[in-house]
Amino acid sequence: MSEAGDAAAKRVGLRSRAWFDNPDNPDMTALYVERYLNYGISLEELQSGKPIIGIAQTGSDLVPCNRHHIVLAERLREGIREAGGIAIEFPTHPIQETGKRPTAGLDRNLTYLSLVETLYGYPIDGTVLTIGCDKTTPACLMAAATVNIPAIALSVGPMLNGWHKGERTGSGTIVWKAREMLAAGEIDYKGFIELVASSAPSTGFCNTMGTATTMNSLTEALGMSLPGSAAIPAPYRDRQECAYLTGKQIVEMVLADRKPSDIMTRTAFLNAIRVNSAIGGSTNAPIHLNATARHMGVELDLADWEAHGADVPLVVNLQPAGKYLGEDFYRAGGVPAVMGQLLRAGMIDGSALTANGRTVADNVGEAESEDADVILPLERPLRHAAGLSVLSGNLFDNAVMKLSVISDDFRRTYLSDPDDPDAFEGVAAVFDGPEDYHARIDDPALGLDARSILVMRGAGPIGYPGGAEVVNMRPPAALIRAGIHALPCLGDGRQSGTSGSPSILNAAPEAAVGGGLALLRTGDRVRIDLKRRRVDMLVDDAEIDRRRAALAGTGGVAAPESQTPWQEIHRQLVGQFDTGAVLEDAVRFQRIAQTRGLPRDSH
Ligand code: FES
Ligand code: MG
Repeated sequence: MSEAGDAAAKRVGLRSRAWFDNPDNPDMTALYVERYLNYGISLEELQSGKPIIGIAQTGSDLVPCNRHHIVLAERLREGIREAGGIAIEFPTHPIQETGKRPTAGLDRNLTYLSLVETLYGYPIDGTVLTIGCDKTTPACLMAAATVNIPAIALSVGPMLNGWHKGERTGSGTIVWKAREMLAAGEIDYKGFIELVASSAPSTGFCNTMGTATTMNSLTEALGMSLPGSAAIPAPYRDRQECAYLTGKQIVEMVLADRKPSDIMTRTAFLNAIRVNSAIGGSTNAPIHLNATARHMGVELDLADWEAHGADVPLVVNLQPAGKYLGEDFYRAGGVPAVMGQLLRAGMIDGSALTANGRTVADNVGEAESEDADVILPLERPLRHAAGLSVLSGNLFDNAVMKLSVISDDFRRTYLSDPDDPDAFEGVAAVFDGPEDYHARIDDPALGLDARSILVMRGAGPIGYPGGAEVVNMRPPAALIRAGIHALPCLGDGRQSGTSGSPSILNAAPEAAVGGGLALLRTGDRVRIDLKRRRVDMLVDDAEIDRRRAALAGTGGVAAPESQTPWQEIHRQLVGQFDTGAVLEDAVRFQRIAQTRGLPRDSH
């Protein structure tokens, strides 16, 4: 380390020294250093005063989306070493979106908790958060917010574009299309799997604007990763270079004592909300960003999403709202090209500080789209006012709807009053969990038609448990064959960010705790009024009272038994989607402090 770096390390008082170099406590120092020497790291290094940088490794064979981080960690280490730090890599609890049953949603808070204990309880001065697959990103940001030591995120990057018969196939999004084709008899089982697999041609995360690209982009928008880093496809050489630069940057951050609380301010979160609208981000974003803000101690709620995000135009032409994929997004300039436009239009605040010590304005002031078909000009967007709408009514206190995927077809079919083009009505078909849906969706007795609204309940943080992405419901095969490819969906669960059907999601409170959805019955009419931002079952109050009385004593719609200890603990501690579905006790604790001082000695 340089002399200036050495002086800076003394000035910030590295916390790792309390383990590795504490002359006042030789007993414990000896105990701490001896075991970290046993794989070849030298005493000289441990006592050099160089910052210890923890690499929070989220990639593994269980998390293919992030697995490339195992390779990237080599370049990270080189950057860390070159800047005068010492890298220590450690695993995090795996969270893979598609493979983890009953839902990766259950594990976000578990990874959060375990990462807090790791960052807090070990000799780590700063950390690189290796983000990627949907929940890995918020889990890492939430933990960094709680421990509040210098932290920078490194995205693993999206997969290369998928192709099938000359057309782009995007992860997730192609599944919904392939399901329809299978239901319509256009492809068989083998063709189905082949088509879906074509969307995953390389290492990396989902190449659509699903939750992964959304959360990696928003991490950059928050200032928690290097500018331009989110969109670089995983296999590109630029991704390796980015890992190296990220490694160098975290050492500088430790020496400058630049912490998450300096970066993840309310200003930064409001910028991220606006970027989310402009990129056509996932409906999971409010859950994860609100959760991160709560752990950071920043005021942020769903009303902010409506107030700050709703009027922002959609300019990123990526599936599911548009047509392109991750490689195209990168070529067109990625997140800086979006933020540069928003900045010049006065739609984001350029003064927010970012990980590299520069402001948003410094980073993206000049950035422009390199391909106006992929990242459109603000004046000629894919859609105007494309943010999330926050709805309430007698079915729930809060739910979100992604305005960017409301099609003209939807408007034509559900419009209830030509003089009021923002009011829609349909007839509910209610399913208690995805098993119920799968068992009955093709049953002609349900009488579904083009005016039906598919309702999923029992899919929230407590009911599922974990809050599953099961509010993506295809219409019955018979309707698909008749040309109806999507019905609106409504539910207390989540929806994959890769899905493009008009949907009302994340309803809180959920049916399992007695939210209004618990009272809805198949055949009830449901009215969606976008202008007044209301969703109501058109059932008279006396009947609603009767139904509520019938439910009394049960708490809500019955949920399946917990199957693991964590499911049970999670159910007791988790809040609802509108407030981030965090472990409420964790946030309660943080109101007193983030984490408190240094931990006690271990022996
Ligand atoms: Fe992991 Fe989409 S499933 S990124
Ligand atoms: Mg998903």
